[in-house]
Amino acid sequence: MDKVKFLDLGMQPIANRFLTSSQIDNEFLYNLSVGFDQESCLVTNMDYVKPALMFNRDYAYRGSMSKTMRDHFLATSNILKKHLQYNPKVLEIGSNDGVFLKNWNPFHTFAVEPCGNFANETNSMGYKTYCKFWDKELSEEILQDTGPLDLVFAANCICHMPDLDSAFSAVANILNKDGLFVFEDPSLASMVNINSYDQIYDEHAHVFSVTALQNILNRHNLSIVKVDNLDVHGGSNRIWATLNTTNIDNSVNDSIEFEKIIGLHRYSTFVEFANRVHNSKESLLRILRNCKTYNKKVISYGATSKSTTVFNYCGIGPDLIEYITDTTPEKQNKYSPGMHIPIVSPEEGFDESVDFAFLGAWNFAKEIKNKEQNFGGKFITHVPTVRFI
Ligand code: TYD
Repeated sequence: MDKVKFLDLGMQPIANRFLTSSQIDNEFLYNLSVGFDQESCLVTNMDYVKPALMFNRDYAYRGSMSKTMRDHFLATSNILKKHLQYNPKVLEIGSNDGVFLKNWNPFHTFAVEPCGNFANETNSMGYKTYCKFWDKELSEEILQDTGPLDLVFAANCICHMPDLDSAFSAVANILNKDGLFVFEDPSLASMVNINSYDQIYDEHAHVFSVTALQNILNRHNLSIVKVDNLDVHGGSNRIWATLNTTNIDNSVNDSIEFEKIIGLHRYSTFVEFANRVHNSKESLLRILRNCKTYNKKVISYGATSKSTTVFNYCGIGPDLIEYITDTTPEKQNKYSPGMHIPIVSPEEGFDESVDFAFLGAWNFAKEIKNKEQNFGGKFITHVPTVRFI
């Protein structure tokens, strides 16, 4: 890959590794920089963190923690079923806690999940789950057990895979000749448009444009036949790809044309983006320091991987954000990666004493505002611009 760096987000920890007090002094850090590959137009991290450091039996992120995502995967499943025959053979890569799987028949649905805690959970739910990383060898093993598959699905997982050529050739290997490969990941167009630089962290080895995906999928005889623009995770694309291309939906060309208009095929676009990221950091620090000057209580809402990037890039610690609230039991009573801000449950920490809450989970702003109508303070966000809401 011929990649050229455009943004340096400094030293960063494992974004989803929430720490006990005894782990604080011994944290793995790496330099998070992002580059543009001139050949494929892929936006990709300059160095990749070893997957086993991120995805293991201590993995803390639970997809089913928000109603938005539970509803989203039910709706996605219903859409997919309309395109499949009765009782299709399905594989989900990166099944997490089964938030997508549970909408499918366990007799014909298989899963891949390298995080042992979640693989155990979905195995107990009746879905045969291979606790391994996705590659050609695993695709061979599954193929022996299941035969060719009608649907390979992955959500917020393909962008985790450093070696996309290996991932896509393994998909091409296991897919039925008329099968569907459908995957969703955060969209580069959205990231650039709303300045959501916190989509960049260790797990997100890449942030995808349709343009780059088409270039890479084509190397493996896979073609994009449809693109759905989704609201989830701050703007995502659902990519539909097949081996046997007959009909290409207008959404494919429309997406690629739109990406050209906003310059996702040009390095200079990302240099401008990096300038906006720098300005966002300055504004956020200014707001938080002002709150401090006026003795206001500021917390953060949602201990997200995204907020790991923001806090470590901007140097925001417990001096500016007193604590973070999060509904995930695995994150509570721990410390945030890198900046070591304490995490508590919303019951414990989201009360009338809070003046301002930074929206670490800004992608769920609608759900959160609905839920927290009685909140007397104000939320702070940095997306698309730093402001109180
Ligand atoms: P998400 O934005 O998906 O995180 P990431 O950046 O890691 O992909 O995760 C949202 C986090 O916010 C998750 O830990 C659950 C938490 N959360 C709350 O604490 N309260 C809420 O109301 C919602 C919707 C999420």
